[in-house]
Amino acid sequence: MAEIKHVLVVGASGNVGRAAINALLEHKFHVTALTRELSNATFAASVKHLKSDYSEASLVEAFTGQDAVISTMSSVSPGGALASQRSLIDAAIAARVKVFCPSEFGIDSSDRSASTYIPFLADKIDTVDYLKSQEDKISWTAVITGCMFDWGLNIPGFAGWNIPARTVTIFDGGDIPFEATNIDQVGKALAKCLVHADLTQNQYVYVNSFTTTQNEILQALEQVTGESITTSEGTVDELWNDGAAKVKEGQGLGVLGMIAGAIYGKGNLARFSSKGLWNEKLGLPQEDLTEFLRKYVTAQ
Ligand SMILES: NC(=O)c1ccc[n+]([C@@H]2O[C@H](COP(=O)([O-])OP(=O)(O)OC[C@H]3O[C@@H](n4cnc5c(N)ncnc54)[C@H](OP(=O)(O)O)[C@@H]3O)[C@@H](O)[C@H]2O)c1
Repeated sequence: MAEIKHVLVVGASGNVGRAAINALLEHKFHVTALTRELSNATFAASVKHLKSDYSEASLVEAFTGQDAVISTMSSVSPGGALASQRSLIDAAIAARVKVFCPSEFGIDSSDRSASTYIPFLADKIDTVDYLKSQEDKISWTAVITGCMFDWGLNIPGFAGWNIPARTVTIFDGGDIPFEATNIDQVGKALAKCLVHADLTQNQYVYVNSFTTTQNEILQALEQVTGESITTSEGTVDELWNDGAAKVKEGQGLGVLGMIAGAIYGKGNLARFSSKGLWNEKLGLPQEDLTEFLRKYVTAQ
């Protein structure tokens, strides 16, 4: 594949979008940020900012001249942003884009059972199915990261952790290993995938910052804060079932319990390092949990 030089990020103002832009700039890509017309987002002067009404014509115009399009579409948007990725792909094909990276960045959605555990993953699975059917026209790379670690820590109560209150609920004893990737590391992984586009084309790419457990996080947090964290106990089944019941009642935020349950092993889709990580192949160093938490807590 010819070298990737021009990269457009869709949903550029979000968590992953901003991290991707930072990493792409570090790698000297020419970066374009695409947002909706109503978005107030601003970007560094070196980033070209385009707005779109997401019509086919507007997308094709925005994508023309781009080698790669990265979608970081939100999964929490009531507008069904994830489902709209098919029109992004069609526009990317029409504009002769070489690579499309769909909005993934979670548990292993290459397993078709994933949407049983987190319902919106059905849209992610459909998107990659569609990309697979278009491989003669465009390549794809789906980046799987497990738990987006600092995103979760930033939501008091998510997955049992409440850092400001110094409390945690430990589920099923706290020794369940899972993959955790910080937001910046997700951005770096995306940039590295495009640097190594020959290696990553038409692949699920598995990366992390570290493999960890709740008990390891607890120990590291107590070490870096010098404070004891108050613990209570719960079960993964209760966590996931409670979230699923809320979703069924129409409480969208219940999905957070389902996500946390999936991270802590429900479905066994957040523990993929045993199958082999791409970090080394991509030149993406893992991170140290304790060092990361030290910086995280200091910045609070
Ligand atoms: N594994 C984990 O723990 C974890 C955690 C968080 C996210 N994720 C995944 O990472 C991906 C990106 O999530 P994120 O947190 O970065 O997203 P986000 O910050 O919630 O949103 C990203 C951007 O999407 C755009 N957007 C929202 N609704 C839209 C719509 N209806 N149409 C078009 N654009 C829309 C917005 O951009 P503008 O308003 O500027 O246009 C927004 O800034 C998702 O696939 C999500 O599932 C995983």
